[in-house]
Amino acid sequence: MKLFRRKPIATILKEGGDGEHSGLNKVLTVKDLTFFGIAAILGAGSFSSLGSAVFNGGPGVVFLFVIVAVACAFTAFCYSEFASRIPVAGSAYTYAYSSFGELFAWIIGWALIMEYSIGNIYVAYSWSDYFTSLLSQCGINVPAYLSTSYMEASKAFQGNVEGEALTAWTTASEIGGLKIILDLPALLINLVITYLVYKGVKESKNFSNLMVWIKMFVVGLIIIVGGFLIFKNDLFANWTPDNSVGIPSFMPNGFGGVMMAVSGVFFAYIGFDAVSVMAEESKNPQRDLPRGMIYSLVICTIVYILLTLVLTGAANYKAFEGIGDPLAFIFEKENLDLPWMHFLVAICAVVAMTSVMLVFQMGQPRIWMTMSRDGLMPKRFSTIHPKYKTPSYATLITGLVVGIPIIFTDKTFVLDFTSIGTLFAFVLVCGGVLLIPRREKEAGKFHLPYINSKFIFPVLIAISIFLIYTFVPGFFSDTFDFSSSETRAKNIPMVVFFVLVLVMMVLSLVKNLSLIPLLGLISCCYLLTGMAVSNWMWFGVWLVIGLVIYFAFSYKNSKLNTEN
Ligand code: ALA
Repeated sequence: MKLFRRKPIATILKEGGDGEHSGLNKVLTVKDLTFFGIAAILGAGSFSSLGSAVFNGGPGVVFLFVIVAVACAFTAFCYSEFASRIPVAGSAYTYAYSSFGELFAWIIGWALIMEYSIGNIYVAYSWSDYFTSLLSQCGINVPAYLSTSYMEASKAFQGNVEGEALTAWTTASEIGGLKIILDLPALLINLVITYLVYKGVKESKNFSNLMVWIKMFVVGLIIIVGGFLIFKNDLFANWTPDNSVGIPSFMPNGFGGVMMAVSGVFFAYIGFDAVSVMAEESKNPQRDLPRGMIYSLVICTIVYILLTLVLTGAANYKAFEGIGDPLAFIFEKENLDLPWMHFLVAICAVVAMTSVMLVFQMGQPRIWMTMSRDGLMPKRFSTIHPKYKTPSYATLITGLVVGIPIIFTDKTFVLDFTSIGTLFAFVLVCGGVLLIPRREKEAGKFHLPYINSKFIFPVLIAISIFLIYTFVPGFFSDTFDFSSSETRAKNIPMVVFFVLVLVMMVLSLVKNLSLIPLLGLISCCYLLTGMAVSNWMWFGVWLVIGLVIYFAFSYKNSKLNTEN
């Protein structure tokens, strides 16, 4: 069937992977790639959304960081397997093209726009929050109507929620009945980043490496200074706050409270896969891409666990309600009371988020470039700038795709949208590895170890069911509660997940599936069950738009179409 026509790996390699055809500069080493990973991972997730995660789950959110890290690690192994077989730009999109065929490849490329471009909108908003607070610490006050998004201000007005956003609404001037409210710093940082990425990977690489050093230094300082003060001031009781019945607990709101933070915690990990889109600019992609991905993931997981412990040790978890700058907040007067750290953290947040934006804004055009080479996007998207050697047209369009929605969306909307799109792409990558045939080990190249899941997988499922029965009593009766339309809507994703587990169990018995990609697929699907039904609906609309474009343009213009 033409819709599922696959692109042969040999052709993919010939077009980009041998380094002769891509036209991009091959300058990145394993250290650069690890830095790119950290640059992409450590940002708005830890500096901004960690506050509400901690408020929902208490110190026990560290468990969620571990669970999500495990899911991401399985996925990173799958990315690595693909990256070592197909070392060209394009990330999950390219991998899907060779394993699932064209239609899925298109869908994944379309979903990745959410990770890279829509994700950057969230980071730009968070960047603006910290930047304006930094300016105000220096005595420069940006008016609320120039540092808040229109949607956020309008929501605050409708819900009469006190704060910056409401101030923006009440103080903004009007033209023709329309309030002039926009997040100017978010728009400006997008402009600067687009310019840097347009100018070229070499300059951006040095800039990015410098920012990673700075943010690692300050994050290290937060952990050391915060940790020291927790010990000095004997604040250990914060790690076991009282739960609703007054019993000290590491998870005061239970596991349900911890799981409420899925979107935010997952967002904190997004970015390790961005390393794979740098394939054509790295010196030895088959060896270095997997290393870069896994090293950066491990480093960031350790950082997140320590940061969460410092945060929840420095203050009672309940103090984090509505706190958008949690890492700066713990050094405020009522907490650890260190004004110079407060200032330093704000600077670091701005730096960290700048580097995240930089990497994501480099990733998006490279995916489009690859899709354009395949004929699925217009030709101009693969134009390489003669002087800067970057995909210049695609870079400019990325700037617009990030910039325009900054004017009319808000943080909450884009956070959920990004997480669901990215998880969806991860599921397809893990599924893709299950489909491709096994291969012989080659020296110097990453090779995903094959472990037969036939018996191990059912045993792991049985252990999980036993643990859930023991530690989360009521989980299964709640999940199969279909008594009201509300519980039905809430429980559908989990029931679908159970069916999937059963199907995969049968398949693993019959087909001897490889354990690592199978666990990657199952753990990412599990995280998807944490997404609200409304998110699925938005995602569905997004996919339908993508399919319309595919059938109207890409299907006809696909290179595989014209060649056959
Ligand atoms: N993981 C990235 C961040 O937290 C997207 O900013």
